[in-house]
Amino acid sequence: MMNMNIFRSMSYGVYIVSTMDGDRPTGCTANSIMQITSDPATVAASINHNNYTNSCIEKTGKFAFSILAEDSDPSLIGNFGFRSGKDADKFESVDYEMVQGVPVVKNTCGYVVCKVIDKMETATHTVFLGEVIEGEVYEGMGDAMTYAYYHKVVKGKSPKNAPTYLPETEEVEKKDGAGNKYICSVCGYIYEGDELPADYKCPICSQGADRFRKG
Ligand SMILES: Cc1cc2nc3c(=O)[nH]c(=O)nc-3n(C[C@H](O)[C@H](O)[C@H](O)COP(=O)(O)O)c2cc1C
Repeated sequence: MMNMNIFRSMSYGVYIVSTMDGDRPTGCTANSIMQITSDPATVAASINHNNYTNSCIEKTGKFAFSILAEDSDPSLIGNFGFRSGKDADKFESVDYEMVQGVPVVKNTCGYVVCKVIDKMETATHTVFLGEVIEGEVYEGMGDAMTYAYYHKVVKGKSPKNAPTYLPETEEVEKKDGAGNKYICSVCGYIYEGDELPADYKCPICSQGADRFRKG
């Protein structure tokens, strides 16, 4: 008997994993990153086989991750986490800089750049082992965003490719209050109120009011 909800008690951060698609920056949102050793500094990142970022890291041999802060723009999560770099230029309106040949996202706690030194395949994800080649702190940002903060405060919902995805609509069920609920069909964000304003934009993934369904 496995109670999958126990995974909700594990703690994670929320990161933008970034790499290059040829000469074009790309990447995705990820929570499954952990430090493995400190000397030499090594990290592991688990990326779904179906994510475009996976094949781009494979080809580039390098990736970075930028550590989101609680006060980072939450639309970064949707921009990188609910659409694919295969058909979108995710860095188009993102403030970033190039470090060691890969893009890193500004207005975050900072970044770590890695060279891929090994990988392990699971049925659905590749675990990339990265040796850290550079890292920097961006001063002036708030605390790092935890995955729990994302769920509780930013009110996001994991899409299927996140390893932590649970096939249930707990967030929707919990919000049984007065008024109406409108659910973003792209990222699952819930707007509560009598009417959804016609010019409303999803704070997570910037979709317009026409992408919301009544819950
Ligand atoms: C909060 C959050 C956490 C996520 N964590 C992961 C993760 O750890 N690994 C992963 O492969 N995908 C994860 N995803 C899903 C990818 O970000 C998503 O599938 C993305 O659209 C892939 O984009 P790509 O095709 O451009 O690579 C996460 C998404 C969100 C919103």
